[in-house]
Amino acid sequence: MVGVPDRKSLIVGNWKMNATHLEAIQMIQKLSYRLEAKDYDRVEVVVAPPFTSLRSVQTVIEADRLWFGLGAQNLHWEESGAFTGEISPVMLAKLSVDHVIVGHSERRQGFGETDEMVAKKARAVANAGMRPIVCVGETLEQREGGEAEQVVVSQVVASLARLDPEALGSSAIAYEPIWAIGTGRTALPDDAGTMAGIIRETVSNKVSSYASEGVRILYGGSVNAANIKDFMAKSDVDGALVGGASLDPDSFAAIVRYWV
Ligand code: 13P
Repeated sequence: MVGVPDRKSLIVGNWKMNATHLEAIQMIQKLSYRLEAKDYDRVEVVVAPPFTSLRSVQTVIEADRLWFGLGAQNLHWEESGAFTGEISPVMLAKLSVDHVIVGHSERRQGFGETDEMVAKKARAVANAGMRPIVCVGETLEQREGGEAEQVVVSQVVASLARLDPEALGSSAIAYEPIWAIGTGRTALPDDAGTMAGIIRETVSNKVSSYASEGVRILYGGSVNAANIKDFMAKSDVDGALVGGASLDPDSFAAIVRYWV
């Protein structure tokens, strides 16, 4: 019988469109000085810099034998071709990228990404041997209208539609309520925990119970060193996707060491 997959905590720093490659090298080095081997035993730490910094950060990770995972913030689903300005899964995999964020609300809202595009991207990530971090989350209007659960469930079902259970079981889903991103206003930990439970149940009912036990569910939206503990205390929240606070190595290290 196949055992229940291990859900090690996962904390991801999404640097968004910040830091030149030179700044990125400094940030990753500073972060590494602030973490110890035992921190990585407890938490899988991933940093997702912009494309232009991936090679530099990869080189530092390999040269200094750091235990960070390397993440990308987006990709195109095709392997190659006439797609000016796009980056393919193969290109990222060759840079030792192991996680790729897909369907971030900033891409859904600002660049017209649909659930169908997100589903294609998630599958392309898995096919290239990497792990997708699929983002979902409702707007303030949807929450105030009592539609948050329905919106998130429908995004989860449609965005994961092309992943097979095995790939899904080693993926992550980030619940990021749009109104909590970059606003300093977080979801209540209880609400985040409830939504994470709903997401896991949706995966279990619509895809497979095996996948639902392995998939890691992250909370994102104004996470900082002071509030991370409250989110991590929720049984269905397995980690965090951190924006602003991941740009400061002191803050991000404190988030990674949330139990201290
Ligand atoms: P903030 O942590 O800056 O709110 O950003 C969250 C986010 O969008 C991470 O992907």
